[in-house]
Amino acid sequence: MKQVVAVIGHPIGHTMSPVMHNAAFEAAGIDGAYLAFDVLAGELEKAIKGAQALGFLGLNITIPHKIAALEYCEPDTLATDIGAVNTIVFREGAHGYNTDALGALQSLKRAKVRVENRKVLVLGAGGAARAIAHALVHEGASVVVANRTRERAEELCEHIRAEGAGLEGIASLVQDCDVLINATSVGMGKSESLVRGEWLHEGQVVFDIVYSPPRTQLLKVAEDAGAKTIDGVAMLVHQGAEAFRLWTGVEAPVDVMEEAVRRTLGQS
Ligand code: ATR
Repeated sequence: MKQVVAVIGHPIGHTMSPVMHNAAFEAAGIDGAYLAFDVLAGELEKAIKGAQALGFLGLNITIPHKIAALEYCEPDTLATDIGAVNTIVFREGAHGYNTDALGALQSLKRAKVRVENRKVLVLGAGGAARAIAHALVHEGASVVVANRTRERAEELCEHIRAEGAGLEGIASLVQDCDVLINATSVGMGKSESLVRGEWLHEGQVVFDIVYSPPRTQLLKVAEDAGAKTIDGVAMLVHQGAEAFRLWTGVEAPVDVMEEAVRRTLGQS
C-alpha cells in the first residue's frame, strides 16, 4: 500500500514540502505520496485524527497550527519544551516532534558555524523562532531574541536562558552579534528586510529562514557587507530530512531534496 504523508496548514499554496518529499520517496525507493491540505484552525483536530484513521504514515504541521497541534498528539520532550510540533508520526498513536530545532542546527553545522559561547541574535518570536532559540541555548550560545511585539520575545525567554527585546534597539543588537538569524516572515515573497546593510560587518554570519526567494534582501545586504550567509533552503531541507527519517526510519537523501527545492525555486 502507498505510504501517505501530508502537510496541513493555512495558507498552504506555496509550500515546497511536496516537491521535496516526493523527490525523497522516489530516491529512497519508497512507494509514497506527500500531499498538501489547506486546513483551518477549527478543523485541526478532525484533520489530524482523520489522517490517522486513514492510515497515513505521518504529517507535517505548519503555520498557524504548530502550537495548537500539541493538544492532538503525544509530543516528545523537545517538542514539549519548545511548545510547538511540526511533525507527527502515526505509529501506535500520534507522536509529535519538532524538527525545526535540529534543522537550524544542521544548517549552521553544514556551514561550519559554531555557536557555543557566541552572541546570537534571533529576530522573531513565532513557532520557528522558539525552536531555534531553544536549540541555540542548548548548544551554549548567548542568545538575544528581538521581536516586533516585545512581550512575545519576553514570554519566550521566560522558559530559556535568553534575553528578550523589542526592535527599537535593533541596530546596535545587529552590530554587536556574531550570528544573526531572521526567524520572522519578513522578506518572504517581497524585497524587504528588518536589517540594514550598514549595521553588518565582515566576520558575522547571517542566516535567513525565509526560503522564497532563496536570496532574500537580508542575504544580499549581508553578502555585500562581507558576512557569511546561510539561506532558508538549508533550513527547509534539514528539518524535512529529520521528519523523513522519523516517518520512514530511512536516512533522508538530503542532496536530492535540496536539488528538488532549488530547481523549483529556479535556483539551479
Ligand atoms: P512562525 O510560526 O513561522 O514563526 P508566526 O508565529 O506567525 O510564524 O511568527 C511570525 C514572526 O514574524 C513573528 O515574530 C512576527 O512578529 P510579531 O510577534 O510582532 O507579530 C514577525 N513579523 C511578521 N511580520 C513582521 C513585520 N512586518 N515586522 C516585524 N516582525 C514581523
